[in-house]
Amino acid sequence: MADKLWDGRFSSGTAEVVERFTASIDVDRRLYRYDIEGSIAHSRMLAKTGILAAAEAEAIVAGLEQVRAEIESGGFVFDPRLEDIHMHIESRLTEIVGPAARKVHTGRSRNDQVALDLRLYLRDALEQTRLRLIALERVLIALARAHIDVILPGYTHLQRAQPVLLAHHFMAYVEMFARDRERFADCRRRTEVMPLGSAALAGTTFPIDRAYAAGLLGFPEVSANSLDAVSDRDFVIEFLAAAGLCMMHLSRLSEELVLWSSAEFGFIELPDSFATGSSIMPQKKNPDVAELVRGKTGRVYGHLMGQLTLMKGLPLSYNRDLQEDKAALFDAVDTLCACLEVTAHMLPGIEVRRERMAAAAEQGYLNATDLADYLVRQGLAFREAHHVVGRAVREALAAGRELHELALAELQAHSPLIGADVFDHLRTREVVDRRSCPGGTGRSAVLAAIAAAEQRLA
Ligand code: ARG
Repeated sequence: MADKLWDGRFSSGTAEVVERFTASIDVDRRLYRYDIEGSIAHSRMLAKTGILAAAEAEAIVAGLEQVRAEIESGGFVFDPRLEDIHMHIESRLTEIVGPAARKVHTGRSRNDQVALDLRLYLRDALEQTRLRLIALERVLIALARAHIDVILPGYTHLQRAQPVLLAHHFMAYVEMFARDRERFADCRRRTEVMPLGSAALAGTTFPIDRAYAAGLLGFPEVSANSLDAVSDRDFVIEFLAAAGLCMMHLSRLSEELVLWSSAEFGFIELPDSFATGSSIMPQKKNPDVAELVRGKTGRVYGHLMGQLTLMKGLPLSYNRDLQEDKAALFDAVDTLCACLEVTAHMLPGIEVRRERMAAAAEQGYLNATDLADYLVRQGLAFREAHHVVGRAVREALAAGRELHELALAELQAHSPLIGADVFDHLRTREVVDRRSCPGGTGRSAVLAAIAAAEQRLA
């Protein structure tokens, strides 16, 4: 293969151990498409401004397209001595095109080149993330619609609190994932900033047309400061932060699937195709997919911390430390996309055991608040009502009965304001449907939330 592209001022070659240590080709070869896309735009811009002859630029573009085809067909030879993907592509381009290829790097440095490559890569990754989030939201909305009449206990402190619709529970996650989508969209605005023209750190002496290159690449903006542009990785960190949040949401959902599929809850049955067995206990059916999503969340958090730490001590402008950004970003993108995808595939196969959910919602005084509200409607102050109901719950607990299983006379012993209509009032479905204020778990409110979410995705 060719000599190094930067070895003019060196009198001895690089130590082999250093070549191995500094090479990033195993990681950054994934950027090949973006590197070629960027170089094509750069070459066209150089031709447009007359810095390169039109014929030279055409030869370079054709050569770059050939390199891309070679990489995609598997015929391309990677050599760790060529450090990174930028050197690989330029070196092969030179073999194909000859001396003209040596002009492709005019007015450019690997520092602005790699910044551009990473931004192009992340733009695609953000689109992949967005599509997967939409698919997952659609799955959750469909589940909400399909289970609009299923009631289960709502929890605080993992103690049964008040009955809620399963649809309302699913829609809570739709809200989380919709916020995630907004965060990724916001990250995209700051990713689509074109850094070429910053060159190594100070800009270039050639009369380039940065806006033209940005237009070719579909970036609405060019970076405003060359020192910042070659060393800015905020967009990577923003992605990792948004990815960490999104993974946290997936992890909470996974945790509930793990809990709900346990014998203790028995609220759902996972599809066989998304569960695994035990090598020793024949009866086991384990929720490994949900557990792995929960576990991989830690990995993505780790990448965020790693990247923040990588950046914190870097003086302006480019430093080689920045090369470490890629493995973390790629892994975070891969992990997040895989988790979004597997979750969206698993959820529709879940069997909802509505009778188990309903039975759980009938037990544990989940209508106690509603008895207090009933008394308030009869004119009692809420704090008084709270005490009255507390005493009734204590009595019912001792008797091993629910509030609605007490006789009217027993209830009236706690307050003469209680009438025979109280039993209707305490029925679980009534308790749920009464919460019809916007954002509540009442059927009408949840149907409105579902319609609003569908509207958002339309
Ligand atoms: N492989 C390098 C990176 O990932 C490319 C830029 C190298 N620039 C340099 N001056 N050594 O950041």
